[in-house]
Amino acid sequence: MIRFPDDFVWGSSTSGPQSEGRLPDDGKGDNTWDYWFRQAPEKFHNQVGPEVTSTFYEHYETDLDYLLETGHTAFRTSIQWSRLIPDGDGEVNPKAVDFYRKVFEGVKARGIELLVNLYHFDLPMALELKGGWVERSTVLAYERYARLCFEMFGDLVDRWITFNEPIVPVECGYFYQLHYPATVDPKAGIQVAYHTQLASSLAVKACHELIPDSKIGIVLNLTPAYPRSQHPADVKAARIAELFQAKSFLDPSVKGAYPQELIDLIRMHDLTPAYQAEDLEVIRENCVDYLGVNYYQPLRVAAPRYAANPEAPFFPSVYFDHYEMPGRKMNPHRGWEIYERGVYDIAQNLKKNYGNIEWLLTENGMGVEGEEKFRKNGQIQDDYRIEFIKGHLLELHRAIQEGANCKGYLVWTFIDCWSWLNSYKNRYGLVELDLTDQSRRIKKSGLWFKQLSQNNGF
Ligand code: BG6
Repeated sequence: MIRFPDDFVWGSSTSGPQSEGRLPDDGKGDNTWDYWFRQAPEKFHNQVGPEVTSTFYEHYETDLDYLLETGHTAFRTSIQWSRLIPDGDGEVNPKAVDFYRKVFEGVKARGIELLVNLYHFDLPMALELKGGWVERSTVLAYERYARLCFEMFGDLVDRWITFNEPIVPVECGYFYQLHYPATVDPKAGIQVAYHTQLASSLAVKACHELIPDSKIGIVLNLTPAYPRSQHPADVKAARIAELFQAKSFLDPSVKGAYPQELIDLIRMHDLTPAYQAEDLEVIRENCVDYLGVNYYQPLRVAAPRYAANPEAPFFPSVYFDHYEMPGRKMNPHRGWEIYERGVYDIAQNLKKNYGNIEWLLTENGMGVEGEEKFRKNGQIQDDYRIEFIKGHLLELHRAIQEGANCKGYLVWTFIDCWSWLNSYKNRYGLVELDLTDQSRRIKKSGLWFKQLSQNNGF
């Protein structure tokens, strides 16, 4: 039997834009996803947009009961900035305050630890129209929004989170065209990354001022970068991949400063963002209290096969090629590699290089396309998901035995949810959502997860 520490929590993560849905009179403003879906629905899988989602806005009471039925002792969701402040920096929407207070009270009334994230890829459209994260004014609007959240909900939230996977909107919005503004603009991308970090540090500062006994962290996808071989060129590729993908937010968030090698590389490409000298002090003095770590698959890289075209726009990937390791274990239903050992390696890295900071595994899970084919006698028999979770928990347990400071495991996600351009393509839930009538049914993994939580292990 694998047993976890007594204070270890079990639960799941979701986000506001992926679960709440939208009603005509709810007062929510547009975020970039609402706008983009209206402009280009063909980009979204099966043309299902963010207004559908799993209708948590209407059904939160019954959904919160599902948390208990699936053994949750912790639950993470996010506030939608565009619901609380429809234009991003103006009036507060009283219906949103009422909604979030009721949801958070509902979580607490069920005896569940509550983690609340302030930003999950969802910028209010009115701010995007003014330049979005490229502009410093967005940093100040975010700081105001964060302060309002701490004041209005600080009595209910156990752990705050400033951003979820902040590197993703940078990569997807300014390099790979998968998030709005879907442009290729490296200079803007680096500026956005810098402004996001500054906003995060300002939120940490505000949280510590307004609610001194609370904890605030940031959620990062800390996928280790594994080199193809120990050849120095492959090792260098992995080091630089990790600089851009992980350390760009990990180091300023936990250590209060950017790695010198990253600063030098950015300067070499003439991409140094606009900043003010006092910003660096804000970043230095306002480190997070804990980390959330999302882990799905490893990043494997090799030295680039070709020299970069000096005239092409800069991409971090000029320093590394993605590498498919022969014989890797796959989740064939999502096309992602499964490498459980990644969890252990993340834990070792945090222990050795980041002062063994407290952390939670805030996302880990198995997306499955066409999951209805696994239904038997009315229930999804997702043994593959149970095996996936067990495999990662074995590695996490091994790391904890060796001193890792991990306080909980949150699966992605509790009810199948809408996922950006992928919409409902990949199902991750412990609970199945039937999109035709919005009915919910607990999957086999949901029942197993309850036992896992009750036994504090397996
Ligand atoms: C995570 C994001 O990285 O991946 C979630 O934080 C997202 O918002 C999840 O839904 C799953 O992504 P996908 O593309 O497999 O549906």
